[in-house]
Amino acid sequence: MSHDTMHIAFTLNGKAVEIDVLPHERLLDTLRYTLGLTGAKEGCGEGECGACTVHLDGLPVNSCLVPTFQVRGRDVRTVEHLSPALLAPLHECGATQCGACTPGVVMAAAWIRDNSHLLSRFSIRELMAGNLCRCTGYDGIVHGVERLVASEQGAA
Ligand code: FES
Ligand code: FES
Repeated sequence: MSHDTMHIAFTLNGKAVEIDVLPHERLLDTLRYTLGLTGAKEGCGEGECGACTVHLDGLPVNSCLVPTFQVRGRDVRTVEHLSPALLAPLHECGATQCGACTPGVVMAAAWIRDNSHLLSRFSIRELMAGNLCRCTGYDGIVHGVERLVASEQGAA
């Protein structure tokens, strides 16, 4: 390890990981280029689009804004950890066109599914406001998330 790097341990998709990171390294780059998890995408690189969304201790975050050293000791989950079945309601509702936004949308949708009590206070559009999509006009995404939440409640 050079003097410029920090050694950190954290949990990634349920497994313990130990790596050396640079002080200003972004979690998005660590995931994609050090750890080979290319599901999280770079869109804006400025915290505006949500394409890079991952879950940090159970909350959706923009991994382009998170310095990797800050995940030391924490729980990180990426789209690779989710069941492909989550995509089905989004596909069925036309919410996946070019796909640039899809990994982030799926991460946000999974979080809404797991926190559906929030839907008594916030709309799906409000909860997905951090995930931009150039293609779908959002109606497909909203319907897909509605269908996902409904299927989960039906299964409960
Ligand atoms: S790439 Fe992270 S929010 Fe756009
Ligand atoms: S499907 Fe193209 S940006 Fe969302």
